[in-house]
Amino acid sequence: MVVGGGGREHAICWKLVQSPGVQKLWCAPGNGGIAALAECIDLAAENVDGIVAFSRENQMDLVVVGPEVPLAMGLVDELEKSGIRAFGPNKACARLEASKAFTKQFLERHRIPTAGYKEYTELETLKKDLGIFGWPMVIKADGLAAGKGVIIAETEEEALKAMEEIMGDRVFGQSGDRVVVEEYLEGIEASVLCFVDENTIVPMEPAQDYKRIFDGDKGPNTGGMGTYSPSLIFDDELKERIRKEILEPTLKGFQEDGLRFRGVLFVGLMIREGAPKVIEFNNRFGDPETQSILPRLESDLLEIFLAVTENRLADLRIRWSDRRAVCVVMAAGGYPGPYQKGQKIEGLDEVDQDVLVFHAGTGSAIHGDRREIITAGGRVLGVTALGATHEEAREKAYRNVQKIHFEGAQYRKDIGMLI
Ligand code: AMP
Ligand code: GLY
Repeated sequence: MVVGGGGREHAICWKLVQSPGVQKLWCAPGNGGIAALAECIDLAAENVDGIVAFSRENQMDLVVVGPEVPLAMGLVDELEKSGIRAFGPNKACARLEASKAFTKQFLERHRIPTAGYKEYTELETLKKDLGIFGWPMVIKADGLAAGKGVIIAETEEEALKAMEEIMGDRVFGQSGDRVVVEEYLEGIEASVLCFVDENTIVPMEPAQDYKRIFDGDKGPNTGGMGTYSPSLIFDDELKERIRKEILEPTLKGFQEDGLRFRGVLFVGLMIREGAPKVIEFNNRFGDPETQSILPRLESDLLEIFLAVTENRLADLRIRWSDRRAVCVVMAAGGYPGPYQKGQKIEGLDEVDQDVLVFHAGTGSAIHGDRREIITAGGRVLGVTALGATHEEAREKAYRNVQKIHFEGAQYRKDIGMLI
């Protein structure tokens, strides 16, 4: 069973059903696209008790947890207590995403390159430190905030507003009990997702994500408006530096600190003049990185998941395709602000045979005697195309995006273009 219902989980399900070892797949709660691959169960990803009970009743052989919230709630610990095998880090390890301060302390303790930082628990103290690392000022709510808890303030006014909202008004609730302020890093971002067990860390192919809503990296941050893989800025030298300066010290750090991490570690990097620094850790597959990474995976994903849960990752040779992938996200009009749901999606049958349309916020509705796919979230679809070259993949992704229609649809025109 896969837990979650976004584009990432659709990509995971799509890859898993190709494994000969998968006899039956469930997904909780799934979405309109996943329903074609798995039996969708009406259980929210955060319903820990419900998921544990369902997994026991149906004798689940493996549960793969997609999103960060159930991981931070300890879903994996609860499943394991019930004797159910689960893929994803336990609650102690999930703090690497659930607390930015925890991660900054970890990085500092293990001398892993990252931005300088300071922690705050009092609004008054925070306000006194306006521009402490210069401008722009990077202000982060410590806890989970669905990708919206980071504010890059250009002016004193913006910084004060962010501080008031996070620590005063608690717009992110308890996630704003603590704030982390960081040095601003310049450079090019890349996402390196890694399979990790207690002895081994294996990077997947690198990807680049586009977080802002508008072309040219303008407008507010979103969950991610598109990705491509492999990242065009990677060469062997950079890969080696990331391995030596970041991945190996991280694994060693986990071992020294007694963090028994098994799952996916998402390393968000800023790269400047060939030097990588960690911006953040997430403890799960990225969304929408997964939609451009997994289509390039040649190995059996179930085998990898099982190996990670048994600390056998070192025995595997994970194979990747040389083909390039570009994923363009189609979002509802208004996203990341308020948006409409329930719009009919047309043209899904017209996309090229070899183009993958991963559903994120979709549902289905019965209309007369037909089942229609309708919008049900902010990020609605991820359209992934593969090609022998990066340009071919990008051109194909956009050609197919234009075949799909729903009212108010918006997407960036520069995915895979702006590096
Ligand atoms: P995070 O949720 O920590 O990944 O932050 C969201 C986004 O904010 C990142 O993907 C970066 O684009 C940006 N960001 C976060 N921290 C920094 C930093 N120290 N310097 C520059 N940009 C940052
Ligand atoms: N695409 C960024 C994330 O999954 O956090």
